[in-house]
Amino acid sequence: MIVIVALIVGAALLIVALAWWLLIKSEGVYLGRGVVIWLYDVYARRYDNIKQYDPYGEEHYLARPVLKRLLPVTAPLVLDVATGTGRLPLALLEQPNFQGRVIGVDLSRRMLTVAAEKLTPHRDRAVLMHVPAEKLPFPDNTFDLVTCLEALEFMMDQWAVLREMARVLRPGGLMVLTNRQGRDVRYMPGHIISHPEFERRLRQEIGLSHVYIQPWQIDYRLVWGIKIGQSRPTGPRLLPEVWRCATCGEMQMIESTAGSENGSGAWRCAACGARIMTGADGVIEGLRAT
Ligand SMILES: C[S@@+](CC[C@H](N)C(=O)[O-])C[C@H]1O[C@@H](n2cnc3c(N)ncnc32)[C@H](O)[C@@H]1O
Repeated sequence: MIVIVALIVGAALLIVALAWWLLIKSEGVYLGRGVVIWLYDVYARRYDNIKQYDPYGEEHYLARPVLKRLLPVTAPLVLDVATGTGRLPLALLEQPNFQGRVIGVDLSRRMLTVAAEKLTPHRDRAVLMHVPAEKLPFPDNTFDLVTCLEALEFMMDQWAVLREMARVLRPGGLMVLTNRQGRDVRYMPGHIISHPEFERRLRQEIGLSHVYIQPWQIDYRLVWGIKIGQSRPTGPRLLPEVWRCATCGEMQMIESTAGSENGSGAWRCAACGARIMTGADGVIEGLRAT
């Protein structure tokens, strides 16, 4: 009897430990992209409270250093991959000397809703799209700055995402990333690599130069790199000038006028007729072309 009880308790503890590792410590990354995104959907409303980003830190350790490295470009076109609740767009758009535009993409629809609420005062210069990091709906060599903060380790194939990010970054453009460190790294084998190895692969596989990894937060280092080559800055273009239709690949998206009663609207591809809705919160429903 005692043996059976011990076995049952042991099995229960094992299941709890496994669930804790798979769902909490590694945030679903070994269970697939759907689980990762589902967890962010579940936590979206609590995300900012958990992270406790403080505005002073965001300004001094994120926005200002980024803007300094972008100089002399003061009006860049920015893409923030896995934007979450809009941390990077907000930090940049709140800087008086930032005159650019930001597109934020994420797969968690609820994280984007929170981002949309926070970015309401900046709607004229911020766009949020519900699309995956693995397939960005933009042409090659487009953005002056491409960022991805605190998210690469949750991707199924972060090197495929980095190649996709480098594709849409213009030659001479700036990439800003994070690389995870700290105690929790041991819970995510295969998803986090050492800083020297990260730097080597960014240079050799992604085609970045001037790669520089600096101390930043307890759990992350900040990573800078420049896409090899040179090109003129793209500048703060409007969305239709850089948005490639996911159905036919053409760049002919037109905003349809009438929205529905709840404030949502729609875009239509003039080339193939595909329609993409905009949610009542202003987020472009990039996953659902009709
Ligand atoms: C820890 S949050 C980081 C959010 C934000 N960059 C920040 O620094 O606060 C990770 C984000 O990555 C997003 N994400 C994970 N995998 C993704 C994918 N394949 N495509 C797009 N977004 C993804 C999640 O939905 C989540 O919003």
